[in-house]
Amino acid sequence: MSIAPGTGLSELTTAYGRDGWCALPYRLSASAVSLLRDRVDAISREARLGLVWEKGGKTVRAIHGCHRFDEVCAALTRHPQLVALAESILGGPVYVYQFKVNLKQAREGAAWPWHQDFSFWHREDGMPRPDALNIAILLDTIHEANGPLTVIPGSHRLGLQDQYADGDDAQRSDWRRHVSSDLTYTVTPERAGKLADELGTQRITGPAGSMHAFHPSIVHSSSNNESADRRALLLITYNAVRNSPPAPTRPEFLVDRNTTPVIAHEDQRLELSLL
Ligand code: SIN
Ligand code: MN
Repeated sequence: MSIAPGTGLSELTTAYGRDGWCALPYRLSASAVSLLRDRVDAISREARLGLVWEKGGKTVRAIHGCHRFDEVCAALTRHPQLVALAESILGGPVYVYQFKVNLKQAREGAAWPWHQDFSFWHREDGMPRPDALNIAILLDTIHEANGPLTVIPGSHRLGLQDQYADGDDAQRSDWRRHVSSDLTYTVTPERAGKLADELGTQRITGPAGSMHAFHPSIVHSSSNNESADRRALLLITYNAVRNSPPAPTRPEFLVDRNTTPVIAHEDQRLELSLL
């Protein structure tokens, strides 16, 4: 079914502003999910820049920047519903800042400590304001046991709560520490625990193809995947064109330099239905 791109946008924008996250009333079709999984599997086998391994080097942890070279991933970033949502929430034209898939392989996928994405985008890249938006698309069924993303609703309104890891500037600025289970900028377990006590927590679970949006400043984490089920999560970050960092230095697969506004374009292979 084709859906008018504006469906429910004002309600979603309000919920997102209040809570810093929202479940989206969209679901990618089984064939679209299967196509994306195939692309992810193929890219994971290629020795590309932007491929990240779990500690030990045997298991792929994540792939980055796929929209820059893969036409299916690029088409996904142009999906009319996603572009309309990003433009509505961010209040103007948007471009793709980052595209990644965190694979959380069965029994091997390691945790993401409590953190805020804006720590990295502001402190490392010079993004002026948290005027960006993450769309999380579940490529596998995500349940309580395969390491779901957990967010603290409302924490996006409190500004940066982070602390720097030990080490010198060069170690902290090594991009590998921005995508590993040992992050440069974290929110301490004590601080996150206090926030969770005050504000509660929300797990991002659901069937493959479902989607959520979350804010660059929301405090979030995810645990090790100790289950027998992979937990692949695809993340598109749209940034407002007016909010592009002036002189980023991290690799382009983490910070796209192409700030050309995304033009929405329907692709029949990426069918999405309204819930
Ligand atoms: C995760 O994949 O569980 C973490 C994603 C993120 O922190 O952006
Ligand atoms: Mn994050």
